[in-house]
Amino acid sequence: MGNERSSDMGLKKNELHHYTEANRRAWDQSAPVHRSRERFRELLDGFSQPGYSCLKQVEVERLLAIGVEQKDVAQVCCNNGRELLSIKNLGAGRCVGFDQAPGFIAQARELATAGELSCEFVKTNAYEISHEFDQAFDLVVITIGVFGWMPDLLGFFDVLTRLIRPGGHLFIHEQHPITNMLETRATDPFALAYSYFKPDPFVEEDVIVYDSQTAGQGETHYWFVHTLGDLLTACLEHELELVHFAESPENISSEEFDIYAGQEAQLPLSYTLTAKRSPSAMTSHGPHR
Ligand SMILES: C[S@@+](CC[C@H](N)C(=O)[O-])C[C@H]1O[C@@H](n2cnc3c(N)ncnc32)[C@H](O)[C@@H]1O
Repeated sequence: MGNERSSDMGLKKNELHHYTEANRRAWDQSAPVHRSRERFRELLDGFSQPGYSCLKQVEVERLLAIGVEQKDVAQVCCNNGRELLSIKNLGAGRCVGFDQAPGFIAQARELATAGELSCEFVKTNAYEISHEFDQAFDLVVITIGVFGWMPDLLGFFDVLTRLIRPGGHLFIHEQHPITNMLETRATDPFALAYSYFKPDPFVEEDVIVYDSQTAGQGETHYWFVHTLGDLLTACLEHELELVHFAESPENISSEEFDIYAGQEAQLPLSYTLTAKRSPSAMTSHGPHR
């Protein structure tokens, strides 16, 4: 028997808003911490050099396979914009990044100014991206640590799909959902700690950081589990045809997950997926919520 749980949790609009608002507060609280880290200064220096890129090799390979030259690209949940700015440096056309945390949108604009790169950064909840952007993009990009913030995966795909022109692409580089089964803080971090099908979100209060230096307690935030089956269902329901899918042993989550990399019995820790929106796609999808 397969897992028949739908990733559409039947959330009411006010519940969706409750979770995404809590996550916005938590991310906004983490913005000054990220701004103060050495990594941000490296990015400022990096983007002041022509052609700078912080993209991972696999991302460059997949993006070049899709083709980005002169393509209009959106990144949903773009954080400080470093990946989108790197895509701009690969020769992309119009680039628009969406994120709901104002602190990160400000950092994205700062990096764009440092690189004299014309990218637009829009502060918005992903579920509420303006319809003025419908079918405005040849490529929509999702990278590293996005789906877990989404209480309603199908509703999120409604938005991603409407942004893509018929015949355009969706590119995803994400943490493998198996990582949701692991507890890095457990006595035995290799024991399976949580169900792959965990129906309720993880509730955390640590200030969100990417490295192992903690920044104390902060706003409550919610992380939702979506399986690979949920992801493939979301693609199917949105007439997104798979062009590429590969799992990888590379850890792209926070540093604590490095302990799972390089094992003899290796777990999949990340994946890349490219899907194409049908050239004859209808103009809109959903709503699933
Ligand atoms: C882990 S980052 C992913 C982006 C990038 N790859 C990175 O590594 O920084 C997650 C981003 O998603 C944003 N985010 C979370 N929920 C969101 C929502 N409902 N709407 C828009 N942005 C959201 C957060 O503000 C944060 O900047």
